[in-house]
Amino acid sequence: MFSSVQSSSVTHIVTEFDNADAVARKLGLESARCLNQRQVVKLQWFADCIRAGCIVPVDEHHKVKSGENNQVAPPVSARIPDYACQRHTPLQHHNTKFTDALEILEKYADLRYDDQDYSRALAFRRASCVLKSLSRPLSRLSEIQNVTHIGSHSQKVIQEILEDGTSEEVEKICADPWFQKMKLFTAIFGIGPARAKEFIAKGWSSIQEVRDGCTSSDWRIQWGLAFHEDLTTPVTRAEADYILGVVRRHVDRVLPGAVMELTGGFRRGKQTGHDVDILIMHPLENKIIGALPRLLQSLQSHDIVLCGRHERSTYHEELLTQNTKLSPRGQLDHFEKWIGIIKVPNKIRIKNDQSDKTSSHQLGNNKCNTDMKENKDKCENRNFQSDKNTDSCKRDVGNESVLYQRQEDTLDSGSAISDSLEDVWESLDKASSSSSPSHGNPREVKASQGDWIARRVDLIISPFSQFFYALVGWTGSKQFNRDARTYAEREMNMKLSSHGLYDFNQGKQLVASSEREVFDNLKLPYFEPQDRNC
Ligand code: UTP
Ligand code: MN
Repeated sequence: MFSSVQSSSVTHIVTEFDNADAVARKLGLESARCLNQRQVVKLQWFADCIRAGCIVPVDEHHKVKSGENNQVAPPVSARIPDYACQRHTPLQHHNTKFTDALEILEKYADLRYDDQDYSRALAFRRASCVLKSLSRPLSRLSEIQNVTHIGSHSQKVIQEILEDGTSEEVEKICADPWFQKMKLFTAIFGIGPARAKEFIAKGWSSIQEVRDGCTSSDWRIQWGLAFHEDLTTPVTRAEADYILGVVRRHVDRVLPGAVMELTGGFRRGKQTGHDVDILIMHPLENKIIGALPRLLQSLQSHDIVLCGRHERSTYHEELLTQNTKLSPRGQLDHFEKWIGIIKVPNKIRIKNDQSDKTSSHQLGNNKCNTDMKENKDKCENRNFQSDKNTDSCKRDVGNESVLYQRQEDTLDSGSAISDSLEDVWESLDKASSSSSPSHGNPREVKASQGDWIARRVDLIISPFSQFFYALVGWTGSKQFNRDARTYAEREMNMKLSSHGLYDFNQGKQLVASSEREVFDNLKLPYFEPQDRNC
């Protein structure tokens, strides 16, 4: 080496190393990428130049491999940030043979140890998530030996898979009848691990035995059992889009100007899911009052709803600062929501098989922005022109700045609706608390099922002021949320939830008018939904 590598006059680097990453490290750089456009060549090139008496072009056989296919991969530990919310975690990654195994161990620990010791399950999940974020397949254990989140148990499993292709422990778990029954029973809508264990204790091992013996009056279990096959058939993207379209049509009737977003796994790019999660908000904060009961009535009157339960909002501002322990199986929030089952024509699912997979969800990210713009226009053209009691608020939505007319409490969201509203609440509450709501007896409905399939749907209503936090929360993944919330607490002295972000240092709430701002407020780099698949 005759010159400093930083100098722009350096065009070629001649080396005896067999890969460019090793050269970079020798030069005190992080990786071969830091060598920019400089050619890293073997001694052979130098010899050829001497022989020719001039600089010869670099041929394929002169080149030193880039770092990617090295025999000795550099340790990746130094580059892995601690929290999953600081890492790209794509849906398709390079280490499924390890992550599938680790997530079986997670599931087993979750079911076996239940609420007492969820940390066991989490340890496997964390290890799995680190591997999902690696940019290449793991080839030797030494690459991850010092990574904080990969503990000795996970390392042992990874080592076994590296050597034999499988893990004996994982194989054993998969073959364990107890585990198989637990998985079968907890897949029933409304059944958690505690009740699944009761079923096993009774000696049941099939869905039919549960159907014959279970006397629960819980509406979810009754409908869940009757429609078990439907509900465990994965929901396709075409079906999710169809459901979104149907709900949108009804929302347009009962809550004009509302913004809707398909969230959950579909927003993260998944092609199938176990349910469809739809987040709804209106740019005028008070417009959402009473909207969900009206929406459900509208859906019901079109014979779309099979069953469901409406939950009123339990939100109050103190929740933003209260120290709530995260539930192991998800982050319960306080939004007004409807959890239920709707009917989707069979042809929608069948059509999906032939359809172009990239069609609608690729737009997922922008859809929200487009909706916002459209809806804001609708709002402005409708009945919100008056300046009285309005305050204009500028919101940045993605790359767009959108001006909303915010209307204060006085208009039709108040007394006019509330008279009839109580009736609607009452009828919905009645329907939801009874075991066989007005829509009939689950088994009878199943017996006379038409050309449709039952699909689980969650409809969540968020106030505008909380919307972008709700969007991040309901987009998930669950592990992304877990890590983002832990990161907020430990690293930022903040509390993050689907309702907002509270900064204890400043003693105030941090507002967000775009998803990006949620990340900005947390001082996190922005990750697209597709990169939140941890
Ligand atoms: P899901 O359980 O539907 O997960 O919750 P998912 O990722 O969409 O999985 P599939 O594809 O349906 O199987 C969706 C998101 O909503 C959050 C969860 O944390 C998850 O990120 N969530 C769920 C809440 O924020 N609050 C809740 O009460 C429930
Ligand atoms: Mn979902």
